[in-house]
Amino acid sequence: NSAALQRAESLILEVPDYPAAGILFRDITPLLADGPAFRATVDALIAPFAGTFDVVAGLEARGFLFASAAAYASGAGLMPVRKAGKLPRPAAQVDYALEYGVAVVEAHDDFPRGSRVLLIDDVLATGGTLIAAHALMRELGYEVAGTSVLFEIEDLGGRAALNDPQLHTVFHS
Ligand code: PRP
Ligand code: MG
Repeated sequence: NSAALQRAESLILEVPDYPAAGILFRDITPLLADGPAFRATVDALIAPFAGTFDVVAGLEARGFLFASAAAYASGAGLMPVRKAGKLPRPAAQVDYALEYGVAVVEAHDDFPRGSRVLLIDDVLATGGTLIAAHALMRELGYEVAGTSVLFEIEDLGGRAALNDPQLHTVFHS
């Protein structure tokens, strides 16, 4: 398991200048391709939060990959936090500023108010995506039990911007 987790770290590839010049993209596809490495990362995402959450919320799109497995492994329900315009019923919505432009996250209120939610995403960069997700949880009346992220890019200041004392990141730059 710790060997698999070590291998997982080496399977996050660095792709320079994608999607734009100057951006170092972290590609998790090779990690997903390795069964034991993938399982070890999902276990590592949820381990610190055992017994503290009722729901796992995953951030579209790459957060879904880990959140879905984390919900299954822990027996919790799964909340997809979606980008704009994908949900068929009325949904709570939060706008957030990105490096270029604005984006929107939305979710349905399918869980009881006060539900304890563990937020999961693949990468923490500036924190914009997760800050929006936290605001969305507040809007829906849910309690954030914590935030768990596979890879933290430390230089971009996401940890300070997000300011969640229950932030856990498995790997970092
Ligand atoms: C990426 C990544 C995180 C987010 C991190 O998502 O998956 O969700 O950026 O950046 P931030 O901390 O600055 O918000 P993106 O929307 O680019 O792509 P995806 O749909 O493939 O997840
Ligand atoms: Mg994403």
